[in-house]
Amino acid sequence: MSFHENNPKKIFSDEWKELQIAVKDASHDYHLMTLSTSTNNKPESRTVVLRHADQENYLLCFHTDTRSPKYDQLKNNPDVSILFYSVNKRTQLRITGQASHCEDNELLESKWMGMNKNSKECYLGEIAPSEKIPNGKIINEVINKDQNTNKFLGLENFTRIDIKISSIEILRLHHLGHKRLFCNLEKNPIDYQWLAS
Ligand SMILES: Cc1cc2nc3c(=O)[nH]c(=O)nc-3n(C[C@H](O)[C@H](O)[C@H](O)COP(=O)(O)O)c2cc1C
Repeated sequence: MSFHENNPKKIFSDEWKELQIAVKDASHDYHLMTLSTSTNNKPESRTVVLRHADQENYLLCFHTDTRSPKYDQLKNNPDVSILFYSVNKRTQLRITGQASHCEDNELLESKWMGMNKNSKECYLGEIAPSEKIPNGKIINEVINKDQNTNKFLGLENFTRIDIKISSIEILRLHHLGHKRLFCNLEKNPIDYQWLAS
């Protein structure tokens, strides 16, 4: 990735390459994304892990617990905003899109089987995510730590959320002048527009 690159298509595809690398590389700045939802005109943001980036279908995916508030929020209002910032590359991605939950049970099952014990335990909390923990306790207990007896224990709470991207705004900071490219993915071919920063 070079600051001197001015070809919108090249910049766009370079950013997709970074997103794909970030799925597998936990130390990549794009591995974590800030997901914002909106309920009754009240925005809410949280960090989630980028699990899949599909340039062909303009999809970004993350995993979540179906008992978490964001799951219902996304069902009621699928419009989301996603933010990435790479300190290393001084690049911000501001994304808009629409969320849907994965209905492919085979895919969910295969993702589940590929997860380690600790990751699975995130879906085995006795109390649903974001609910109050009773007095006298601090940490949410795991329902059943012996997953050897039932490999699918917790799978019922696990899902993948797919974000179909509508637009990506790429802002690259540089002392010679910031470059800000708006990519409208709802147009075919993609509409690229430089913006003032
Ligand atoms: C580094 C980090 C990674 C996280 N990854 C996820 C994730 O992939 N999926 C998820 O549902 N929550 C993840 N969380 C927790 C969420 O940020 C959030 O606290 C939790 O899901 C409850 O959100 P909600 O009340 O908006 O549903 C992560 C938190 C941190 C700090």
